Amino acid sequence: MSGGNEATLAGTDLSIPYLKELHKVFSAAFLLSLSECYNARMHLVALQASGFRSLTGIDFQPTPGLNVIRGHNAQGKTSLLEALLFLATSKSHRTNIEAELVRDSDVGFQLRCRVQRCDREVVTEANWFKGVKRFRVNGVSQPRTSDILGKVNVVFFSPEDAALVRGSASNRRRFLDMELSQLSPGYLFALQQYRQVLKQRNELLRAFKPDPALVDVWDDQLASHGEVLIHERMAFVRELSAFAAKAYRRIAETEDLEVRYQPDIPLDSPIIEVLNEARESDLRNRVTTRGPHRDEIVLLAGGRAARQFASQGQQRTAALALKLAELELVKDRVGEYPVLMLDDVLSELDLKRCKRLVEAIPREAQCLLTTTDLERLDSMFGVPCANFFIQGGRLEKK
Ligand SMILES: Nc1ncnc2c1ncn2[C@@H]1O[C@H](COP(=O)(O)OP(=O)(O)OP(=O)(O)O)[C@@H](O)[C@H]1O
Ligand SMILES: [Mg+2]
Repeated sequence: MSGGNEATLAGTDLSIPYLKELHKVFSAAFLLSLSECYNARMHLVALQASGFRSLTGIDFQPTPGLNVIRGHNAQGKTSLLEALLFLATSKSHRTNIEAELVRDSDVGFQLRCRVQRCDREVVTEANWFKGVKRFRVNGVSQPRTSDILGKVNVVFFSPEDAALVRGSASNRRRFLDMELSQLSPGYLFALQQYRQVLKQRNELLRAFKPDPALVDVWDDQLASHGEVLIHERMAFVRELSAFAAKAYRRIAETEDLEVRYQPDIPLDSPIIEVLNEARESDLRNRVTTRGPHRDEIVLLAGGRAARQFASQGQQRTAALALKLAELELVKDRVGEYPVLMLDDVLSELDLKRCKRLVEAIPREAQCLLTTTDLERLDSMFGVPCANFFIQGGRLEKK
């Protein structure tokens, strides 16, 4: 063993220059793996479905970029995307009655997807049999269906999302709640507690002679959970608004979109005081009239309230901008773009908006886009794409 600052261990050179070199190599490898991670896209590698809606023997293997699924009406385009949504969220966007998802009221369905994430592969399987649903992730069964949330991230746009713009405030609150619940466990907890307390307070208000001391107890709890909801919604909408405005401008070019959070209880008013002031009218109306369950999210397209004044195309553009904003927000929090699913998105948009939409999809995001436009193309408005064709629930690569 030589003296000074040099040392060997079991024949390994541990001199300072060697260690420096080693450090350089490791740093470079670390940076390389980081950049690989950054460039890698979360993407669906394969999706298999059988017995789900009209789908038969589906083996869908999309590319990591833009995938266009073409087909006439009623051939299974939406069902294919719905299958991936179910694997990612354990829910369908079209129904809460899961038996409706089973092909021709048979006994069950099986779904399986393989998703490549930046640092790992995730295989999710869903098995629905006679009313019992089971999920497995990488072979391990998931006792609660909520355990599968976040294993595969997706953002789904469906034509029904126009309700986000023209529907009642409850549609927009549901959107906020769904997004925030996936991104913030603290929010999910506060939301569950708030809903529970609200239900109990309303039940109490409907009682013959509500006990004021008990109403006080519920008010304290509503105030503390409500405060979390208001502050998280405020921060989320601020972030969402910036991304949505950018996305809207990219698609609509000359118009702007503004998303404003309008809490029922103003930010500078203590919730408990507002609840106290509203107590008398709550007792009269037998319902809780104030609180975050009455919040509104206002959308202004081209300076006008989108709910009342937006045209069909503007409504669709605004709903799309919200979804593209969601894509960026998930990327910010999770580090990778989620899989973007755009169902029948091009109808109702003029050619210019269609083109700008396709250009606005981030290149690093995988996108599955369905359309009834049957023309096979090598590129969609200059963006390279892979083509699939679906007919009678069977899919083929074109
Ligand atoms: N549980 C089920 N079993 C069998 N078929 C079903 C079931 N649920 C829906 N279908 C049928 O599956 C077919 C495909 O529906 P889907 O909504 O996927 O079509 P689509 O290609 O998206 O059509 P469109 O272009 O009109 O939106 C429809 O004919 C529908 O009636
Ligand atoms: Mg459809």
